[in-house]
Amino acid sequence: MTQRFPDGFLWGGAVAANQVEGAYLTDGKGLSTSDLQPQGIFGEIKQRVAGDFSVKDRAIDFYHRFPEDIKLFAEMGFTVLRTSIAWTRIFPQGDETQPNEAGLAYYDRLFDEMKKYGITPLVTLSHYEMPYGLVANYGGWSNRKTIDFFENYARTVFERYQYKVKHWLTFNEINMSLHAPFTGVGLAAGSSKQAIYQAIHHQLVASALAVKACHEIVAGGQVGNMLLGGMLYPLSCKPADVLETQQQNRDWLFFGDVQVRGYYPAYMKRFFKQHQIELEITPEDITALKQTVDFISFSYYMTGCVTTDPEQNQAARANILNMVPNPHLASSEWGWQIDPVGLRYLMNELYDRYQKPLFIVENGLGARDKVEADGSINDDYRIQYINDHLVQVREAIADGVEVMGYTSWGPIDLVSASKAEFSKRYGFIYVDCDDQGQGTLERRRKESFYWYADIIKHHGATLKA
Ligand code: BG6
Repeated sequence: MTQRFPDGFLWGGAVAANQVEGAYLTDGKGLSTSDLQPQGIFGEIKQRVAGDFSVKDRAIDFYHRFPEDIKLFAEMGFTVLRTSIAWTRIFPQGDETQPNEAGLAYYDRLFDEMKKYGITPLVTLSHYEMPYGLVANYGGWSNRKTIDFFENYARTVFERYQYKVKHWLTFNEINMSLHAPFTGVGLAAGSSKQAIYQAIHHQLVASALAVKACHEIVAGGQVGNMLLGGMLYPLSCKPADVLETQQQNRDWLFFGDVQVRGYYPAYMKRFFKQHQIELEITPEDITALKQTVDFISFSYYMTGCVTTDPEQNQAARANILNMVPNPHLASSEWGWQIDPVGLRYLMNELYDRYQKPLFIVENGLGARDKVEADGSINDDYRIQYINDHLVQVREAIADGVEVMGYTSWGPIDLVSASKAEFSKRYGFIYVDCDDQGQGTLERRRKESFYWYADIIKHHGATLKA
């Protein structure tokens, strides 16, 4: 087997506007749903009051420091950088008819800076945030009108950046709305399944309309969906466990099925009936959904297990998705189980199911780092994690899976999404900031920085299998 990844494979990292930019009210930006979640995507919703402060308000100040950061990414040899556009920089309340020029100009500067170094932008339209104005005044994605507001936003940025950005993603981890409805669709935690699935339906339609708009506006443009790749294994080989696992995997694969195939899968009819969910789906929606994505992108951090045994089910649950832990796997300090082989398995499953190119747009290890007295940061645990996962990506490619690229999550330390903390670091670049948002924000290369640069330089041939 060749050790080298294919030519044209894109290497890089991924960040999201609300986790790096800071400058949360600068240049006319409006409040986003993320700005109201100072404790992260599962935390309480807090109205902003004068003088309050959330770590995300400053984040790593990428808004002002991006030239320095892009230069560091280029030093590692990145050929792709995934980031998101903050919808609220373009339409501060969400329902304006005219976009905010200062917001548009910011992303022009950002994409121009990437171009200087030959870094391809991969841009998410909505990464865990939307204008809070749309939630307060329209009920977020529960309202059909939000489809139009989103389409208008998407068309605006496609028009503006059509010559600069060819690779787009619609909604980050679109299946996450099932676990964090405020983050995903602007609905309160505890909302009914009926309300959540109706909002999800609107979002799926909006995603499809964005694909259509991109194809109309951006010559050579490609749009991917973005799934949280939360693959589940049966805890035992008991047929009931295997069946339950299949059903739970369908909970998230359903999103991919709609976005890749262009219609609701048959198994959802039964699911909706069993849960007394009746969706309003118009003939126009059915037509819109037929616009399918060009590629499939996903995040991958961990796998989990499923059991029908009530005791085992209750006994041990960990990580953000509340999955039953796998006794054969070690966990990160945050309870995320480390499973490189699971990545190869997932990639093969997705490719078998959809036969579309895949893009791994998030993967990485959240860990505490220690700055040594001499200023070095020896994050060999992170090197190990990424090495092992990339080895499995290479295996999947050898299995015949088409893979466009790999962007590790948080190549520069950033605010964590789940808890809005800083001590959970993913970066190859260290940022001096603590959980209270205090620190100089100075950037520092970690050991993994040099390691990743070497991997990219040799197209993966120096990975240790
Ligand atoms: C993904 C999100 O779920 O996981 C990112 O798309 C997030 O926004 C990442 O940061 C890692 O999660 P966390 O909670 O460790 O930041």
